[in-house]
Amino acid sequence: MINVSKIKKGIVLDHIEQGNGYRVFKDLRLDELDAVVVLLQNINSTSLGRKDLIKIETDYRVDFTALGLIAPHTTVNIIENGERIKKVRLELPEKVMGIMQCGNPRCVSNQEKVENIEFTLHNAETKEYRCEYCDGLTKFRD
Ligand code: CTP
Ligand code: ZN
Repeated sequence: MINVSKIKKGIVLDHIEQGNGYRVFKDLRLDELDAVVVLLQNINSTSLGRKDLIKIETDYRVDFTALGLIAPHTTVNIIENGERIKKVRLELPEKVMGIMQCGNPRCVSNQEKVENIEFTLHNAETKEYRCEYCDGLTKFRD
């Protein structure tokens, strides 16, 4: 077991589904941060069997909506002065704005440059969201 020390200040993304850590790393563009970032893969977890985990030592704050879409059920721990001051258990977001695009080519949002389209969760199992413009369903690609 590789030991990664506790951090003074930053964020610990815990309970990431095994195999998902690298995608979270890429999607949150953690490579662009000028901070210490550690990705742990396939570590033992009491509840999940195995899991991935990311530690970021920085002031940077994650976008919970985006992360909830990519990796629902992640636990976000906010660390200050070496102590966990906040713990947030993510869920698939009910509303998504500014991240997804409608999959319907005939949708007005794809004809004109519409920004910040609101999508509403339709099916959590399939990650399908309903477009506010055409009511069509689009799957969040992962
Ligand atoms: N952690 C850290 N630096 C700190 C405090 C915690 O890196 N200063 C990390 C721990 O290593 C752990 C995660 O944050 O991976 C959660 O830590 P902890 O508060 O100890 O909670 P746990 O009981 O391990 O987890 P949970 O409450 O989510 O079950
Ligand atoms: Zn649409």
